[in-house]
Amino acid sequence: MELDDINTVAVLGAGNMGHGIAEVAALAGYEVNMRDIKEEFVQNGYEQIEWSLNKLEEKDQIGEGEAAETLGRVTPLVDVGEAVSDADVVIEAVPEKMDIKKDVYQEVEEHAADEAIFATNTSSLSITELSEVTDRKETFCGMHFFNPPVRMQLVEVISGAHTAEATLDVIEALAEDFGKTPVRVHKDSPGFIVNRILVPLMNEACWLVHEGDATIEEVDSTTKYDMGLPMGSFELGDQVGNDVSYHVLEYMHEELGDAYEPCPLLAEKVENDELGKKTGKGFYDYE
Ligand code: CAA
Repeated sequence: MELDDINTVAVLGAGNMGHGIAEVAALAGYEVNMRDIKEEFVQNGYEQIEWSLNKLEEKDQIGEGEAAETLGRVTPLVDVGEAVSDADVVIEAVPEKMDIKKDVYQEVEEHAADEAIFATNTSSLSITELSEVTDRKETFCGMHFFNPPVRMQLVEVISGAHTAEATLDVIEALAEDFGKTPVRVHKDSPGFIVNRILVPLMNEACWLVHEGDATIEEVDSTTKYDMGLPMGSFELGDQVGNDVSYHVLEYMHEELGDAYEPCPLLAEKVENDELGKKTGKGFYDYE
């Protein structure tokens, strides 16, 4: 498949990442089928795209009328068959759990066209292992966006052990057509490149606070004003979703060892459903 053969993109999952990826694809002119398991999830994702597009239009970051036109290219769906049967590329952005993703791929495999490429937005999980539940290991790769996708420039394009070079080429070209800067990740290791660095940083920030060595505000001030990151560690955790960072750490802990043990402070946030901006409360309050 070449870039020119791609017209329709299916995005599985309408959460923080899914709706953002759907928005990016629609802004680049693609027809987008955005699917989630419940009507309310898909509707919520659709409304967030609408909010974001209107914001971009208000600020002249897109042309007049472009918000409505772009939204018109997004079809919200619950039926998985309808979502993937005419898709040239399926980008999966469901929760960061190996079992959930494997179940989704088994279901999607039954409905997708043989030539469709599968790209997972996993933040950390093995691309090779996920590809092995499908019949298209060579046309399966990672396509990892960053939160919020509409604002973040980078996309990691990750090769699994079975991924064909041609698949990486076309997904890289697609990322560029989305207006992004892809970086190719040759080794399918837990957390790839960005999260191998970023998530331990957020975890270490949690340990500092958990052990009483610093406050959230002190840590965030230093990460923001001294290290020059655009957000403090805890602000970033709330932006990414504390459940996402926790699941990434759990997997890295399992695969890479004790240095990646999730801090109890983070576990507590997840248990209390204080997941960050998306639930209105995380390390900070958003209501
Ligand atoms: N769409 C449209 N507008 C949006 C938006 C969206 N999705 N999200 C925020 N905005 C709006 C805000 O509402 C705000 O609007 P008003 O000015 O009208 O209030 C405005 O954008 C804020 O924009 P600014 O340019 O003033 O804000 P900023 O310069 O602080 O940029 C940011 C915001 C791009 C998120 C920046 O803070 C940033 O880069 N943060 C770091 C994010 C990051 O590192 N993400 C990666 C996390 S790791 C990850 O995602 C991977 C993983 O697998 C875990």
